[in-house]
Amino acid sequence: MEGRSQWGTRAGFILAAVGSAVGLGNIWRFPTVAFENGGGAFFIPYLFALLTAGIPILIMEFTMGHKYRGSAPLTFKRMNRKTEWLGWWGVLVAFVISTYYSVIIAWALSYSVFSFNLGWGQDTEGFLFADYLNLTVDPGQIGNLVPGVLIPLILVWAIVLAILFKGVRRGIEIANRIFIPTLVIIFLIIVIFSLTLPGAITGVDAFFAPDFSKILNADVWVAAYGQIFFSLSIAFAIMITYASYLPKKSDITNNAFIVGLGNSSFELLAGIGVFAILGFMAFTAGVGVDEVVAGGVGLAFVVFPAIINEFPFLNEFFGFLFFASLVLAGLSSLISIIETYVAGLVDKFNISRGKAVIFGGGFAAVISLLFATQGGLFFLDAADYFINQFGVALVGLIEVIMIAWILREMKGLQSYANEISDIRLGSWWTICLSIVTPIVLGYMMFGLFKQNLLKEFDTGTGNYEGYTDTFIMFGGWAVAGAALLIGILLSLSKWRTSDTVEEETQKTGEAK
Ligand code: ALA
Repeated sequence: MEGRSQWGTRAGFILAAVGSAVGLGNIWRFPTVAFENGGGAFFIPYLFALLTAGIPILIMEFTMGHKYRGSAPLTFKRMNRKTEWLGWWGVLVAFVISTYYSVIIAWALSYSVFSFNLGWGQDTEGFLFADYLNLTVDPGQIGNLVPGVLIPLILVWAIVLAILFKGVRRGIEIANRIFIPTLVIIFLIIVIFSLTLPGAITGVDAFFAPDFSKILNADVWVAAYGQIFFSLSIAFAIMITYASYLPKKSDITNNAFIVGLGNSSFELLAGIGVFAILGFMAFTAGVGVDEVVAGGVGLAFVVFPAIINEFPFLNEFFGFLFFASLVLAGLSSLISIIETYVAGLVDKFNISRGKAVIFGGGFAAVISLLFATQGGLFFLDAADYFINQFGVALVGLIEVIMIAWILREMKGLQSYANEISDIRLGSWWTICLSIVTPIVLGYMMFGLFKQNLLKEFDTGTGNYEGYTDTFIMFGGWAVAGAALLIGILLSLSKWRTSDTVEEETQKTGEAK
């Protein structure tokens, strides 16, 4: 087998890991999640989730990737033969995410072009759903491919697959060295400008105003954990894969803190920027900030274009900056999501990187077409909800239980990380991962299964978003279930690489 690829520099690795973490989740999801879940009070569960689960798991995944030097399946296999399936499960979750994540970037790409002449017009909601997405079918119906989405989608796949084709150092690292500094500059311009708008401070106040009545609500905690996992790119194979490309002499803990805190700082910045702009909107319309807040798709693709229409000057320019920042943040994350299965295929089937990019990426691109159809938005919404709750969060829970309680690897990982890192891990790390996270996440997962299986949502059908049982079955449960099932099947197939290295690793517990 060829030698494993490596990052060129420490900064290159950190930029790539930050590039993976900072994504659509930060700009598209965080501000509304925070607002809907109690504004300032959300920070308590958010910080708790970050410090007791997010950063500790990030350190754990960096250590695992570095110690066992493999894609997620190979890392788990080297840890213990019987846990390879868990690595594949994470990879498959990433695979599903890549199929719809690419589509959201495609929308943002279209909208960057529309911003040249504010092509979305005055009725931004009608424009998004009727004109752009052509959403004239019911949930579960597919309809035709929508050319306006298909064309940018092809472009997104072409860009990311070309970067992945070039490899870790010459592709992923260079792309992030360009994307991330550009993104930070664009975002700072947006935030500074937005703070000068009339009404901005009222918006930011609304974001930070704590609503303590919400803090005892279990849903707020679920939202905080979900946000941290997705946003930090943990529990879906990414950080294990990226850390496996670190040179032998690398700091682990310090890097994890830089990435974790860097991501949260960006998230906070996005929250401030977005709410300052919403404050301006509320001011212009003469209403309260809560009346202009909308979730996910609505915020970025309905409310933002409407606000950009109202800007006092340079509307087109700011529209372009905003959507370009979504594209850049999205692309650098999508690259890392796809790299999980590229690395998994290379390791397991002993094929070249190029073939893995074509087969893995090509297959994901074909599946992503489903989300570029007229009914695509409903499929996307269901897949996103189910794969996050019963994919990412569930993998996270099983991963910590497996490592802490079944394999009893915590001590080994702790001393490995301590030997090479500046910041030494104390017992807080072990306690967070073996006790706090399993209890809180376990309780959360129990609640989530109950809510979904007993149809306890406050909607007409009792299902998530009021979808029908059939649609929830195929568009939601089947997607999350398939990730686990196919993961298990892949772990049962034969390794095409020489097993001696793995046998060796098994015996000594040492990476090659
Ligand atoms: N971490 C990436 C995001 O936040 C996946 O979008």
